[in-house]
Parts: sequence; structure tokens; C-alpha cells
Amino acid sequence: AEVHHHEFIVQETPVKRLCKTHNVITVNGQLPGPTLEVREGDTVVINVVNHAQYNVTIHWHGIRQFRTGWADGPEFVTQCPIKPGGSYKYRFTIEGQEGTLWWHAHSSWLRATVYGALIIRPRENKTYPFEKPAREVPLLLGEWWDADPIQVIKDAQRTGGAPNISDAYTINGQPGDLYNCSKEETTAVPVKPGETALLRFINAALNQELFVSIAQHKMTVVGVDASYTKPFTTSVLMIAPGQTTDVLVTMDQAPTRYYIAARAYDSAQGVAFDNTTTTAVIEYDCGCATDFGPSIPPAFPVLPAFNDTNTATAFAAGIRSPHEVKIPEPVDENLFFTVGLGLFNCEPGQQCGGPNNTRFTASMNNISFVFPQTTSLLHAHYYGIPGVFTTDFPAYPPVQFDYTAQNVPRDLWQPVPATKLYKLKFGSVVQIVLQDTSIVSPENHPIHIHGYDFYILAEGFGNFDPKKDAKKFNYVDPPQRNTVAVPVNGWAVIRFVADNPGVWLMHCHLDVHITWGLAMAFLVEDGYGKLETLEAPPVDLPMC
Ligand code: C2O
Repeated sequence: AEVHHHEFIVQETPVKRLCKTHNVITVNGQLPGPTLEVREGDTVVINVVNHAQYNVTIHWHGIRQFRTGWADGPEFVTQCPIKPGGSYKYRFTIEGQEGTLWWHAHSSWLRATVYGALIIRPRENKTYPFEKPAREVPLLLGEWWDADPIQVIKDAQRTGGAPNISDAYTINGQPGDLYNCSKEETTAVPVKPGETALLRFINAALNQELFVSIAQHKMTVVGVDASYTKPFTTSVLMIAPGQTTDVLVTMDQAPTRYYIAARAYDSAQGVAFDNTTTTAVIEYDCGCATDFGPSIPPAFPVLPAFNDTNTATAFAAGIRSPHEVKIPEPVDENLFFTVGLGLFNCEPGQQCGGPNNTRFTASMNNISFVFPQTTSLLHAHYYGIPGVFTTDFPAYPPVQFDYTAQNVPRDLWQPVPATKLYKLKFGSVVQIVLQDTSIVSPENHPIHIHGYDFYILAEGFGNFDPKKDAKKFNYVDPPQRNTVAVPVNGWAVIRFVADNPGVWLMHCHLDVHITWGLAMAFLVEDGYGKLETLEAPPVDLPMC
């Protein structure tokens, strides 16, 4: 196994998009940022140097960070931010994970431009569980604002309203042919006729689930969230923010040019969203005189309608583990969390940008998560600093009601703001029912947990019914992921073993929702064995 050393300079960089030049925050001047390429078993040491005028942290999305919670990255959860002029060395080892993950800023909305791919290949003497592809291409889906994204969310927080929607989606940082002033820079994927390419899709968009399709080419899904899957062939992917999907594509069509296109899967009907389409181009190099000049537009794929929940659901149902898995049993912690929006009443002097004189908020089990500001949760836990958090996060919603009905009682719309954690014994088997609510608006929520991969045992629509729905659990080959797209007006059941000590955030990966409080954290106790204990904090860990 190797040790990879990298330097990430967080800096202000002028970039031109949609006809205008803006200064945006990048890593090493690149958008997207540098791709990390490692093998399973390798160690990564990344010195993050902050030359920007914002506080920043970097999260290695999906990396288990076994015993190295100090390197996980979410601001005020596992570390205080790296201040302007400061630096911090993230050090971690990648164990038992292969495929595509990514990294991104985990402070405010900096991840709009601070993100990149993290590719984990098998160890030296090992191979993929599929034929070696002729080429591998990371394709990062992103979201672009003409305005400064930090200002967009600051404005929304001031007014209490919804933030402005993005002005473009991007593939590897480029909006593509369908946007103004973007044609020259459209991301190109050169291929050879007949070869098979491994495309590593990552949804790094801030707030939008995306459908992805390739003109006239089938995709065979072979991995999600750095876990292999049973190969299955599809013409469309649905990728939620935080998720990755690896596909094999055989270049078996006439040697010309084909669009890869992505646009919104908008589950929250009636809510404004960016309805534009981003494209990249697959370009066959046939070795012949190229006769498909730029005057002939590439073939365009068929994308599902914005509200096509059936296609999104069918795609999720097709994802399975490649082999029979040993499901952790018996369940020690049987938890039920609601996920959804809420509304706060306007206090005097506040602006009321939400519906009917309110301000938007969001919660899990009616607790709207408040991030501490004076220290990190992990620091407070490790050193026993009182008053930073409590461990009384409710394991069940405070009231039972029809979560998916349109007429949810008004008194349930106002969650309680608090920093509540839920304590888990080391090694306990945890099952969580994640239930969407229709409070304010039903919506598909991509729920991500730090420090763990989980099995998705089942998903469904309506209210979870323990008797009826437990019969639907897949105990044979459920997919393993770190982010589950909880169906709109529906539920998902996940299961994992709490074998990684530390403090681990669980949240909606729509950034607007985490900003509104759709988050909670688990405190996983030490196993008090040499290999079951959180490591000591690094000496350069930033302080608040
Ligand atoms: Cu990619 Cu806390 O998330």
C-alpha cells in the first residue's frame, strides 16, 4: 500500500461561465478540483491550505474514516474550520472500499465550487469484478450560480425564504452546448469504436437530483457509492446529490458524436427549480477522416420528464449487491426518523420570506439541527466539554400522524432548534426507518451518513407500516451505499453496525436543507479495545 501526499490550496480563482468572469473559490485553481486516485489499502495525506477569505473544511464523502473521525471534515462536527491563512493535514487510510467517491467543502455553500473526484481502484494484485475497461472517465455533475453561492444562501437565511435556484448544471465544471457562451468549453469524452469505457458519475450538485442519459448507448451499472453492484443495464440514471454511479458503456454505435445529458428530477412539485439541461459529448475517434464536423449537432438522448418518479424508483430498485450479503442481525436500535421541511413563525424584526409570514426550516423528528459555533462536537465529546450538545435526540417522532397527508396539523410545522445527538453503543446493530413528511412539501431527500456505509433493506411510498412493510425487506442482496434517496412521500429502511467510534453527522445532502437544519448526529461510543478506539486528535487540528 502507498501513501499519497497532496497539497490543496483553497483560493480565489477567476473563472468564465455563462458569458461572465467571476472570482470563485477553488482548490489549486481548478474547477472541479483535482482528482485523487488511490488503491484500496492506501493512505492519503492532504495538506489543505486556506488562502481564501472564508472559513473552510474538506469532507471526504463516503470514506469510512475508521477511527480517524478527526479527518472527516464537517465544520463544527469533527473539527473547527480552517481559518483564512490556516492549514490542516487530513490523514486517513482507505479500507474495504472500491469505486468512486468524492471530496467537497463542508462549510456554508462553498462546495458549489470546491469539489472533486476520489477514485479507489483495487489493490495492486487485484482486479475489478468486471472486464478491465479501455478507459475510465470521472464525470462530476455540478450546479452553477451567476451570483456568489455564499451570498445566495446568506440572502436566503436573512429573508427566511427559499434561495435562488442555479443558473446552470455542469459536467466537469462546464454547462455544455445548450447554454450561452459555453459551446467551446463543453466537456468532451474521446473514445475509440468498440471499446468499453468506465464512466464514474458523481452528483456534486448542491440541491438537485439529476437524471442522466447518453444518446443511443446503454449503460451497465457496476457500482454505487464505492460498493460494487450486480450489473444491470439501463438507458437512464437517477443520481441524488452525494451519490455516485459507475457505469460501463460499450462504444458500439456509428462513429460520430453523442450527447451525455443531465437535467433535474424534481420531486417537490410546484417548487421552483432550474429546468435547464447540461451536456457533455462522447466523440468517437474512428481513425478515418472525421466527417462529423461541429456543424452537425451530436445525437441527443431521451431524458425522463422532470416529475418522473416512476423512473427514479425503478432505477433505485434495480441496484443490488453483487452477492448474497450477511445482513447484520439482530437489531439493537430500531429507530424511526422523519425527514422534512418546517416553518418558523417570524420573530419581530425578522424578514418572513417563507409562505404566509413564516421562515423556512427543516428537521428530523421535529428537531432542527443547530451546529455549535465554539467548538466541534467531536472535540466536546473527546474532552468531555459540557454544554455543547445533549444526547437526547428522540428516536421516534414526537407524535404519530399521517406523514404523507396533505393536511398535516399546523402545530407540527414548527420544529425545535437544538443540538441533539443520539448515543450508540459500540458494535450495536442500527436500523433506521427514514420517513418523508409532507409538511410544507413532500420531496425526495438524499440522506447521507458520515463514517458508515449502510444496506438499504427496502423503500416504499406512503407511511411506513412496520407489520406490512417488514415483509418487503431484502435480506439477500440489498445495495450498500452512503446516501439513500428517500422517495418523495415515502420511506427507506437502512441498517448498519455502529463499529466506528466518534461523532457522525447524518443529513440531507440538498445543501439548502442542511442549512435549514435537516440533520442530526450519532455519538458512537468507543469499544475500548486497541482497534476499536478513536485515535487521538492530530496536533494541527484547527481550534475555534
Ligand atoms: Cu457529502 Cu456531510 O456530506
